[in-house]
Amino acid sequence: MAKGTVLVSGGAGYIGTHTTVALVEAGYDVVVIDNFSNSEPSAIKGVENILGKKINFVEIDTCNIVDLRKVFENYKFESVIHFAAYKAVGESMTEPLKYYQNNLVSYMNILQLMKEYGRPNVLFSSSATVYGDADILPVTEETPRKPATSPYGNTKQMAEDILHDCCRAYDGFYGIALRYFNPIGAHTSAQIGELPRGVPNNLLPYITQTAAGIRECLSVFGDDYDTPDGSCLRDYIDVLDLAKAHVAAVDRMTEGRMKEKYEIFNVGTGRPVSVLELITRFEKANDLKLPYKIVGRRDGDVPAVWADTSLANEELGWKAERDLDDTLRACWAWEKHLRNIK
Ligand code: UD1
Repeated sequence: MAKGTVLVSGGAGYIGTHTTVALVEAGYDVVVIDNFSNSEPSAIKGVENILGKKINFVEIDTCNIVDLRKVFENYKFESVIHFAAYKAVGESMTEPLKYYQNNLVSYMNILQLMKEYGRPNVLFSSSATVYGDADILPVTEETPRKPATSPYGNTKQMAEDILHDCCRAYDGFYGIALRYFNPIGAHTSAQIGELPRGVPNNLLPYITQTAAGIRECLSVFGDDYDTPDGSCLRDYIDVLDLAKAHVAAVDRMTEGRMKEKYEIFNVGTGRPVSVLELITRFEKANDLKLPYKIVGRRDGDVPAVWADTSLANEELGWKAERDLDDTLRACWAWEKHLRNIK
């Protein structure tokens, strides 16, 4: 017997695909919705190849409440994981309306219909970006949020607050915000992984594309930070561990184990890794050399952020387990799969 049905919006995306696999493996029925605005149908194929069966998939835009309502008419959900959102920080600075329109309208539609039809258990994909340049590290869930420095970051903060308000106002409405640190890696089967469009903004896809010869040279944004080697420190969390955190959070919601109606958990490893260290580890793990050069700092980057994960460890019974070198090997295996490199 299935543990319940989970609606996964944006389930064809990077974190959505890995989470869908983990949910099905954990015994949930899953309905995935996506409009492929920043993903490909091949991602759904990859999920189905791993699981060895078809999944329920509906191609719709979550911003269209008429279409979304049809999904709610056809299925009954115990919970929803809302991934569907634009995520490019830089683009959000030049196209704020696109970000507010898409990220907030789709979210409001999901909340509205969960309230009308479902047992409203809502899991929202938040981000460590809400902490900004934190005064004390590592950050705990109690660490005050800093004012957002981009419309993208602002949509994350607003979405957290909206969920909090709904949980406070409506009977039977429960919400969890998972604050992801820096998700990296790919499925060990190399059937699913990140599919960045155009020039990648994030570090790992830039590294693997440089290793594949698609990019000439990796730019390291700054080596004059007040950190041990001068480059920025981040908390890189394997997407397989991240997917398991979602399963743990859905279990907690559907089994009625939440202590508050709205809860927040950091999802990271608790270990800071520098950009230069990550490059060296990638080279060693994959036995290759990566051309890179040091350039100036990137606007908006914080020097360091990593998670205190004790709350997720204790309350979700979840802990990051994947070894960083294995993660970095999976990143490269995925890039090779995409580019047909032997
Ligand atoms: C970024 C977003 C964050 C978002 C996350 C999603 C910002 C300020 N933050 O996090 O809101 O949730 O992506 O994954 O944009 N780096 C290089 N060279 C590169 C690319 C990156 O040196 O070509 C460095 C960056 O300076 C940073 C680290 O690598 O120190 C990680 O960068 P990135 O992968 O873009 O993630 P964040 O900026 O931490």
